[in-house]
Amino acid sequence: MMAMIRSILLLLLIKYSVVYTNNLCPSSCKCTENSATCTSTNFTRFEGLILTLKISKPNDPITIKGQIFNVSGLQHLNSISIEHASVFAIDETALKPLQSLSSLSFINSTIPIFNNSNVFAAIPKLRMLQLTDCALRKFDFVKSNSLEELNLSQNQIVNISQNTFLNVPYLTFINLDNNLVSSIHPNAFAQLPNLQDVTLAYNNISNIPRDLFQNNTEIISINLSNNPLKEVYFNLDADLEKLVLRSCQLQTFTENFAKNLISLNYLDLSNNSVKLPSGLFDKMEELIFIDLSRNNLTNLDPFTFQLNIRLQKIILDYNNFGEFPELKSQSNFPTENFSCKQCGIVQIARDAFKHFPFLITLDLSYNKIGDSSLAIFQQLQSLTKLDLSYNSILRIPPSTFVNSQALTTINLAGNPLKSIDTRIFQHNPYLKTLDVSFCGLQQIWQQPIKANLNSLLHLYIANNSLTSISTRDLQVIPFLQELDVSKNPLHCDEVLHNATSWLIKHNVEPSRNSLKWKTHEELNTDEKHEKTESSWKFLIKERCLDEYYFDTLEDDEEEIDTFDSADKGNSSTFDDNDIENSEEDDEYDDCDDNLCASILFKTGQKSDSPLLEMVLIFIATALSVLLLVVNIFLYFYRRKLITCIIKVPHVKIPWLNSNNRHKHSGSVYQPLSEEKLESTSMVSDVVPPHIPVLGV
Ligand SMILES: *[C@@H]1O[C@H](CO)[C@@H](O)[C@H](O)[C@H]1NC(C)=O
Ligand SMILES: *[C@@H]1O[C@H](CO)[C@@H](O)[C@H](O)[C@H]1NC(C)=O
Ligand SMILES: *[C@@H]1O[C@H](CO)[C@@H](O)[C@H](O)[C@H]1NC(C)=O
Ligand SMILES: *[C@@H]1O[C@H](CO)[C@@H](O)[C@H](O)[C@H]1NC(C)=O
Ligand SMILES: *[C@@H]1O[C@H](CO)[C@@H](O)[C@H](O)[C@H]1NC(C)=O
Ligand SMILES: *[C@@H]1O[C@H](CO)[C@@H](O)[C@H](O)[C@H]1NC(C)=O
Ligand SMILES: *[C@@H]1O[C@H](CO)[C@@H](O)[C@H](O)[C@H]1NC(C)=O
Ligand SMILES: *[C@@H]1O[C@H](CO)[C@@H](O)[C@H](O)[C@H]1NC(C)=O
Ligand SMILES: *[C@@H]1O[C@H](CO)[C@@H](O)[C@H](O)[C@H]1NC(C)=O
Ligand SMILES: *[C@@H]1O[C@H](CO)[C@@H](O)[C@H](O)[C@H]1NC(C)=O
Ligand SMILES: *[C@@H]1O[C@H](CO)[C@@H](O)[C@H](O)[C@H]1NC(C)=O
Ligand SMILES: *[C@@H]1O[C@H](CO)[C@@H](O)[C@H](O)[C@H]1NC(C)=O
Repeated sequence: MMAMIRSILLLLLIKYSVVYTNNLCPSSCKCTENSATCTSTNFTRFEGLILTLKISKPNDPITIKGQIFNVSGLQHLNSISIEHASVFAIDETALKPLQSLSSLSFINSTIPIFNNSNVFAAIPKLRMLQLTDCALRKFDFVKSNSLEELNLSQNQIVNISQNTFLNVPYLTFINLDNNLVSSIHPNAFAQLPNLQDVTLAYNNISNIPRDLFQNNTEIISINLSNNPLKEVYFNLDADLEKLVLRSCQLQTFTENFAKNLISLNYLDLSNNSVKLPSGLFDKMEELIFIDLSRNNLTNLDPFTFQLNIRLQKIILDYNNFGEFPELKSQSNFPTENFSCKQCGIVQIARDAFKHFPFLITLDLSYNKIGDSSLAIFQQLQSLTKLDLSYNSILRIPPSTFVNSQALTTINLAGNPLKSIDTRIFQHNPYLKTLDVSFCGLQQIWQQPIKANLNSLLHLYIANNSLTSISTRDLQVIPFLQELDVSKNPLHCDEVLHNATSWLIKHNVEPSRNSLKWKTHEELNTDEKHEKTESSWKFLIKERCLDEYYFDTLEDDEEEIDTFDSADKGNSSTFDDNDIENSEEDDEYDDCDDNLCASILFKTGQKSDSPLLEMVLIFIATALSVLLLVVNIFLYFYRRKLITCIIKVPHVKIPWLNSNNRHKHSGSVYQPLSEEKLESTSMVSDVVPPHIPVLGV
């Protein structure tokens, strides 16, 4: 017994000691294997080997001096990062013990002026120095014979002088983005024979000295974007591969300059006002990527890219071409991505893409392309993703995509289409996603339906004029996984009820996210993702707020005596949670009288004023009584005149409708269609479900 207790105690002791040694990390630090994050520099020793040390948000200012890093466990440090700190002094001798350090960063910290140019020279293997977001104004004479990468972005450096990079001869990478640089000495980079990559974006440079890069025979990449250059010309004695001149207010991009860029494979000239004299790109035979978007170009020469037969990606967005010509070349372009979004295209030459047989994605959205331009797709045999949204397409001939068998995604949103002829996609066995939202569709499929779309998984038909979706419509797309039908004036009838049952049975997900197209230029602006609802039942409930049509859907929770519930003003079948979950922007504004067939009382949010609520309750009660009377009257009337078709006039409450769309708490629609009249249960519909007082 005693032996057992002793061995347990021993075990505990061993365990404790193991934990203890593992935890031997200074109290102001958090250590994980080989790295430590500290809030102070008063550490005296680390157990184990620390390779990465981070000092973040220290409570007190830091002084890097004396034996601060001559501490057991830090002898082999690779990297030090000091963030959000006030650094009072950096002393050369303190850095001496860091024989293995290769990376040193000061980020968003106040640092002292480097009056001792030898301070970093003490670190023999320092390769990367980062001093970013440190309000640095000057960085001259700093010495290091090992430094290769220097990141000085987000500071306040105004001048790049002859002395700035004088003593760092092995630099290959310089980042000076987001400074205030307005003057660069012509010899600023002359002592940097290894320089490969310079980025000076977001500065105030209006003049690049002609010989700035003359001595940099290894230079590969220059980024000057967002500088007020107006014009650009510099001599080069290197094989420059990448040149970024985005948003540089350039008026011209001269042939004289262009003809030196024979190794260029990446050229971004977007958001300038350059003209394109013919033959401008002729010498850039290595070009793989070109961006000419936002240049207000009005004319596209058919021979613009005639010799650029390596182009993989062409971006011409936001210009104003009008006519889009046949882009000519001796041989085919290997281009896979082509974008001419909002290019003012009215007409596309029939053979525009004759030499682009390898196009995979094509974005021609937001133009004025009409039906007569649709012949271009005959030549696009590899096309996989096509964006034709927001054009002027009325009717798509069934032969349009016959040769584009690889198509998986088509965006036709925002075109004035009437319906979709399923034969259009008959030859596209991989078509997965189709967006025809905002098209004014009055029916989904053109009748008679000629083909099924067996591969389609995602269909977006939101914001159309669909009054009905039938089971037959859905049988066309038997493997559908996702359907967005929001913002359609659907009739709440048995057809919809049956279609909903089909959707539930086939596990189709309702969605409110119409296709978001990922282009080169992610427009994050209105990435307001709407909430996906969890079930079709809910969608129908929200759409119709009409118990009759969903109480018979399988596994509905509650039994509802529809007539009775109205009689007693019982609204308990709607729980407030569901109503509150519904989208506030859900009202169907442009629902015209004929379309708004079903009785709807749609709620966005609860009204915040008790007075308004009282008024609402009063109006709703009065309305329900009125409607009850009308319906009882109709009920008896219809019994007498069964053959006569009666239409109940459409009733809207004007002051509710004229409210601000976002704030208003509900709108009332009245029954109109014949189907509604056939149902005796309609009376129940007028009960405003979110007003609990009624549910007595
Ligand atoms: C280090 O400083 C922190 C406060 O910044 C303090 O809590 C801690 O006790 C100090 N540790 C040592 C070893 O002095
Ligand atoms: C580090 O500290 C030890 C004593 O703890 C000393 O002998 C050694 O010289 C110091 N090293 C440096 C580089 O200062
Ligand atoms: C650190 O970042 C904050 C917020 O961006 C900024 O206000 C502050 O000036 C920065 N600190 C330094 C030393 O630059
Ligand atoms: C650097 O400047 C500090 C004050 O900012 C001063 O104390 C120090 O003596 C100077 N060192 C040299 C080498 O000039
Ligand atoms: C340079 O610093 C900026 C700002 O802290 C950072 O975004 C960037 O990733 C850093 N590295 C390079 C290689 O530019
Ligand atoms: C920048 O250089 C100009 C002359 O080239 C000089 O007049 C100016 O004072 C310098 N500015 C700074 C902040 O060093
Ligand atoms: C260009 O570099 C060479 C050696 O790489 C050097 O001798 C020459 O002085 C440099 N030119 C300038 C203008 O600094
Ligand atoms: C050029 O610099 C800007 C600013 O840092 C950056 O956003 C952009 O990605 C850079 N472009 C390239 C092609 O490196
Ligand atoms: C940019 O440089 C011009 C002179 O070239 C100067 O007048 C202007 O104040 C500078 N702008 C900024 C924001 O530094
Ligand atoms: C285009 O460049 C101007 C400056 O010339 C800038 O103000 C604007 O934000 C840029 N627009 C885009 C979309 O980059
Ligand atoms: C684009 O060009 C048209 C005429 O060609 C001109 O009216 C317009 O101001 C230009 N827009 C810009 C942003 O330069
Ligand atoms: C709805 O489905 C039921 C049962 O499957 C069927 O009897 C009825 O005719 C269908 N109604 C419509 C309008 O298709």
